[in-house]
Amino acid sequence: MSTSLLEVEVHLDEQDLVQTMKQEVAHGLRQRPRQIPPKFFYDERGSQLFERITELPEYYLTRAERALLDRAAPGIAERCGCSELLELGSGSSAKTRVLLNAMKGAGLLEKYVPVDVSETMVRETADQLRSEYPKLAVHAVIGDFTRHLHLLPHGERRLVAFLGSTVGNFERDSAVALLREVASALGPQDRFLLGTDLVKDQAVLEAAYNDSEGVTAEFNRNALRVLNQQLDADFVPERFEHVAFFDRVNSWIEMRLRSTEDQTVTIPGLEMVLDLSEGEEIRTEISCKYTRESVEDLLREAGMKLVEWLPDEREYFALSLAARG
Ligand code: SAH
Ligand code: TRP
Repeated sequence: MSTSLLEVEVHLDEQDLVQTMKQEVAHGLRQRPRQIPPKFFYDERGSQLFERITELPEYYLTRAERALLDRAAPGIAERCGCSELLELGSGSSAKTRVLLNAMKGAGLLEKYVPVDVSETMVRETADQLRSEYPKLAVHAVIGDFTRHLHLLPHGERRLVAFLGSTVGNFERDSAVALLREVASALGPQDRFLLGTDLVKDQAVLEAAYNDSEGVTAEFNRNALRVLNQQLDADFVPERFEHVAFFDRVNSWIEMRLRSTEDQTVTIPGLEMVLDLSEGEEIRTEISCKYTRESVEDLLREAGMKLVEWLPDEREYFALSLAARG
């Protein structure tokens, strides 16, 4: 196998990661309600737990998005005429293969640029893709898409994909800021493909984040394990209960960790001592649920326009194709 077609660019070293984590976690834990920023779920164990979430019967998002891609990817590839796919938060790139195959089928595929904070995941995936697609140039980037977008390799005729409703894990202001950065990196011929989960029946939404096997609960508690490892904290994950509910006003699923007893947690890395009372909750994640209107709004505010709206038949999930402007 030729290795010249594989490049791995690292914008995150362990030290930088810990530094950012310190700032962001200290800031979040001082807020009321307390918060832990979501990107700290994704250490190696976190990424593995997330892969299990995508296969849960209650977690319809991944299957819905994959079915949409199966149906829409060939048309998207043809109409975009893109030869390069850049993906934000690519994870295992499982669904991405549908897009890669469509671009290959249209005779266009040249390059794939996965961008993710999870180093092991990116490296393994990049190697695997190189053997699955011998002619594909893979330029993997290990980085934080909230900080390193300006460092991404330039390209032409690009499709920038942001799948899995990962955009929904950001509050509106941060999502707009992030998509603005994306918009400013788009050339006139480039396209942006955004996957968003849609507002639906509350029971269906809540079940997706409260699965019966407790995998989501474990994923949620994993954030504490990451803090233990990186900041020498002494969280006992078992002393926290997983809570997830749909907040209709904000139109998001909110995940929290609820302290099951009065307890004191020390975080030496932050020189912080947390006194948590029984029932006190730490917010760990939000997952926004959209409508066509709210997606169009978000894109408009970020300096993009919706070119195609592609929901599934049940209107559970939608892909949006957008352009700069
Ligand atoms: N796109 C995949 C994975 C979604 S999970 C899918 O649709 O199934 C979200 C992914 O984004 C994880 O792989 C996580 O490591 C990555 N991620 C989260 N925050 C990030 C950030 N700030 N910068 C880069 N990657 C991030
Ligand atoms: N972005 C996806 C979602 O909002 C994946 C995800 C992020 C997730 N954090 C999660 C799924 C926590 C389950 C639990 O659904």
